Amino acid sequence: MKHLLLLLLSTLPGTNSQSRVTAFEGRSVTVQCPYAPPYTEAVKYWCKGTCQQKKRSDEAQKADDKVLLKDNKSQGVFTVTISRLEEEDEGWYRCGAVPGYYSEVSVFIAVNHGSSSLSVVSKSVTKQEKQTLAVHCHYDQYYRSYVKYWCKGDNWHYCSSLKRTDSPETPGDKITISDDQTRGVFTVTMRGLEKEDAGWYWCAIEKLWSDLGISLNLTVVDGK
Ligand SMILES: *[C@@H]1O[C@H](CO)[C@@H](O)[C@H](O)[C@H]1NC(C)=O
Ligand SMILES: *[C@@H]1O[C@H](CO)[C@@H](O)[C@H](O)[C@H]1NC(C)=O
Repeated sequence: MKHLLLLLLSTLPGTNSQSRVTAFEGRSVTVQCPYAPPYTEAVKYWCKGTCQQKKRSDEAQKADDKVLLKDNKSQGVFTVTISRLEEEDEGWYRCGAVPGYYSEVSVFIAVNHGSSSLSVVSKSVTKQEKQTLAVHCHYDQYYRSYVKYWCKGDNWHYCSSLKRTDSPETPGDKITISDDQTRGVFTVTMRGLEKEDAGWYWCAIEKLWSDLGISLNLTVVDGK
């Protein structure tokens, strides 16, 4: 274990996994890269994507730099703060020490537009068999022209897409989706509900790097 520089990556509250951070456009995000004692005096770096350019902890910095690095040697934590986030900042990043490519840790920073990028009124819905479910997924106007979809599964990363706004409608479809781009709402309708339809669903927006998703739990009870 002693050769492993970055044992874990911790992120600010509000993030859901160790290697993924969700941040908002215009705001800032802080990523912490803790390291083990052998690396206390090593130069640390931070880079994006293929890491052609590394920003190093021994470079001069100004307080208003977009990316600020801070190496707290007594705590053994290398901290990176990115300010004034833009959509182009979204992507994979790595932090590490020089030398030692093997000791890098990767983190994905997802940049969302607005803190209420996507929302649903009710996150838990109960319906009877044969009834119709209609879900309104509200989104930030910024995503007006993006493709929206409806996905099923407990795990966001493995949910299966059931219907997309860019897929053609066939008469008699059990599931329909419509997008009101003026109001910033897309509506998913599921007709003739059956017991097997119960479970977790996601209102989702397709984005280049990482899709946005918000979950909702459907319970189907016996019909009358
Ligand atoms: C390192 O972190 C500790 C605890 O948060 C703090 O007291 C100390 O001032 C920090 N040192 C530097 C150089 O920022
Ligand atoms: C969905 O909600 C129902 C009712 O609130 C609950 O009983 C069920 O456990 C939830 N499903 C999951 C997978 O959490």
